[in-house]
Amino acid sequence: MPEPIVQITRREEFSAAHRLHDARLSPEENARLYGPCNTDHGHNYAFEVTVRGPVPRSGMVLDLNRLMAILREEIVSVVDHKHLNRDVPFLAGVIPTAENVAVAFWNRIEPRLSAFEGAKLVSLRVHESRDNFVEYRGERG
Ligand code: NI
Repeated sequence: MPEPIVQITRREEFSAAHRLHDARLSPEENARLYGPCNTDHGHNYAFEVTVRGPVPRSGMVLDLNRLMAILREEIVSVVDHKHLNRDVPFLAGVIPTAENVAVAFWNRIEPRLSAFEGAKLVSLRVHESRDNFVEYRGERG
């Protein structure tokens, strides 16, 4: 019988500052577009990474401890207590909205996860506050 397909999710948290600002726009246009988010402020972020794959004999789609280690190494250690606009090399030139942060996180960890046979990154959620979160599933268009 084919192996069941299961999704596993790891959640991590970090705190960071950011500012939504487009250098190509005037100060007035930035203020109009981004409102209060155009000034420096911070969030207690959380993000969730979901990996999907068959459950092999080991019983694990992917060892969640290994997933945790990758997320902490590639993301948390780089962004925690940093200013996302200026302190994080992999976000250089990116307007750090939750959407753009989710895509950047995906691009950073996807190569690491593709090393695990059968396990596929399928969702990356970034929570900017209790009520707001975004989800990226690797789609373009
Ligand atoms: Ni913000």
